[in-house]
Amino acid sequence: MIKNTIIAVKSIDQIISPIADELQQFEAFFGQTLKAETEPMNSIMQYVHETKGKRLRPILVLLSAKLFGEPNEQTLRAAIFVEMIHSATLIHDDVVDDADTRRGQASVKAHFGNLSAVLAGDYLLAKAMLLIANDTDILNEMLRTTAAMSEGELMQNQNNADYLDIITRKTALLMRSCCVAGAMSVGAKTEQIQQISGFGLNFGILFQLRDDMLDGENTEIAHSLLPDNLEKTLQSLEGFENRGIHKVLKELTLFCAEREE
Ligand code: IPE
Ligand code: MG
Repeated sequence: MIKNTIIAVKSIDQIISPIADELQQFEAFFGQTLKAETEPMNSIMQYVHETKGKRLRPILVLLSAKLFGEPNEQTLRAAIFVEMIHSATLIHDDVVDDADTRRGQASVKAHFGNLSAVLAGDYLLAKAMLLIANDTDILNEMLRTTAAMSEGELMQNQNNADYLDIITRKTALLMRSCCVAGAMSVGAKTEQIQQISGFGLNFGILFQLRDDMLDGENTEIAHSLLPDNLEKTLQSLEGFENRGIHKVLKELTLFCAEREE
């Protein structure tokens, strides 16, 4: 009994403390970017900013940048882009699923209505693209996977679609892009980008496997695939051991595999 209690599972806040400053910058810049010139859009965007999630995708962007260099404005823009895209898809998902709660609070659709939620999602997508419109490499990377997300979401309604293929498209490709964009933003080398891209993909699959286990969806297959995938995700970090952020990526991986929320 004592043995079990001394192994403290780190909370996500503890894990990401090495990038606390960068995340604070992210929050401030994200809040500014969400501002709309008119009402009621501005109030909806304020609500989106306040009802925050885990910020996992911007965390991946920032960590991947910090693994190879110093996060800069381009890194922050990519981080905000991805959180805006993520928010847009969640807001639209809640309309489609008629879900009244999100992140323990009223969903945008429950709070402001379906019309507002659809338009708020569209607004977020457009503003997100504007933010990185000048960075064609990152834009290209990000938009390809944003398109794939919609394909994955639709595929899951087809009963002959392959489970791994679906979760790769609907979740993992975006997480891979987070890592690629973060690394690209600090001028990482091609081989470095390739390796962190592999980590991002495996991490994304792991995240969705755990998510399905927690949601009670595809539980059996998710459960059976998780151990192998966890090993692969950790393996994809081999070679980065001498970099300070390596430990954070490893802890974040373990957090994802064991998380309860
Ligand atoms: C939820 O993602 C949607 C999926 C891809 C399963 P998160 O669990 O990262 O959502 P938030 O941002 O923390 O609410
Ligand atoms: Mg969730």
